[in-house]
Amino acid sequence: MRKKISFAGPSITQKEIDYVIDGAKNGFYETFDQHVIKLEKTVAGYLGRKHALATHTGTLALHLSNTSLGLKKGDEVICTDFSWVATAYSILYTGAQPVFVDIDPDTWCIDPAKIRKAITPRTKAIMLVHSFGIPADMDEIMEIAREFKLKVIEDACPALGAEYKGKKVGSFGDFGCFSFHGGKIAVSGEGGMLTTDDDDLYEKAKLYSSMGRTDSKAVFWSDYVGYQYTMANLTASLALAQVERIEELVAIKRQIFKWYEERLKGIDSIKLITEKTGTKANYCYPSILLENQVKTNRDDVLKYFKSENIHARPAFPRMSLFPTLKHRYSNPVAEKVEKRGMSLPSAANISEDDVDFVCNKLIEFIK
Ligand SMILES: Cc1ncc(COP(=O)(O)O)c(C=O)c1O
Repeated sequence: MRKKISFAGPSITQKEIDYVIDGAKNGFYETFDQHVIKLEKTVAGYLGRKHALATHTGTLALHLSNTSLGLKKGDEVICTDFSWVATAYSILYTGAQPVFVDIDPDTWCIDPAKIRKAITPRTKAIMLVHSFGIPADMDEIMEIAREFKLKVIEDACPALGAEYKGKKVGSFGDFGCFSFHGGKIAVSGEGGMLTTDDDDLYEKAKLYSSMGRTDSKAVFWSDYVGYQYTMANLTASLALAQVERIEELVAIKRQIFKWYEERLKGIDSIKLITEKTGTKANYCYPSILLENQVKTNRDDVLKYFKSENIHARPAFPRMSLFPTLKHRYSNPVAEKVEKRGMSLPSAANISEDDVDFVCNKLIEFIK
């Protein structure tokens, strides 16, 4: 069988290996948190944010953000219907209710026009996702947030390195959250990061991330019901090496996307999800939509790919259909993407020949 073309996977160099060895050898005793501190400073500096707080996963960074904003039962958060379920569950954990709205067919990110229509007196925040590393329409979203006095949480979990009008995504909202999961652009196995410019929100998030421990009346004293969400130092050592290489990692992903674009751009039956003018995607997961004229079922394409050892991924199902989440709106764009959308392999070790092979197989099969 032909070699495996992986859906995702990192670029690991001697730098990562050296940092992890350093973490294992020296990341204890008085330097037990040196990599975590360095990682937080590096991410904050890279994004131009005042604060960054490393967490065990991206999901927990989102939960900490929502908790620190004081979201609670009775509140509504307007949320894209198209994401990994962590986005919605991080709202649900606080007791607040996600209200799912549709996406922009060109970016698969939340559609600002739909946000306006979903606002009620209970709406407290907007949770957007920079889907697959394509920036959401931040000007419109921030304008709506200002007009209706809503908080903004950017789920930038897959989007480290992406930019909107020259500013890094994850640096617009009250909070911006990232993931270092093994399938993301920069990895640490599991890992997350929350960022904010607000001193109070940062202090709250920090407190909640370490069991509400204040030491106020005694050592180990806790004044709040907190969580154990902090990142391990060894994990941070790997994440740090990756974040220091982020521009190089973005360049790798953008090159892979370019190879796909060169081969798929002229094909009417395939719509390539592409950054909008003025934005820079990190193309974490290059994605396509099989247009209506394609009679082949998307899942059959994925099965065929698998038989050729090509590992691709279907688009997300609408979260609003899950039995755990209540449904209020119909979201036809997300419904179409759920059936006809897919993400193509973009592991860091993919070559132009691999992309050629994937595209040839795709074009051949849907014909
Ligand atoms: C959009 C989105 N939100 C949230 C998450 C959750 O991140 P993590 O897996 O680090 O908890 C992910 C990653 O899986 C994601 O892609």
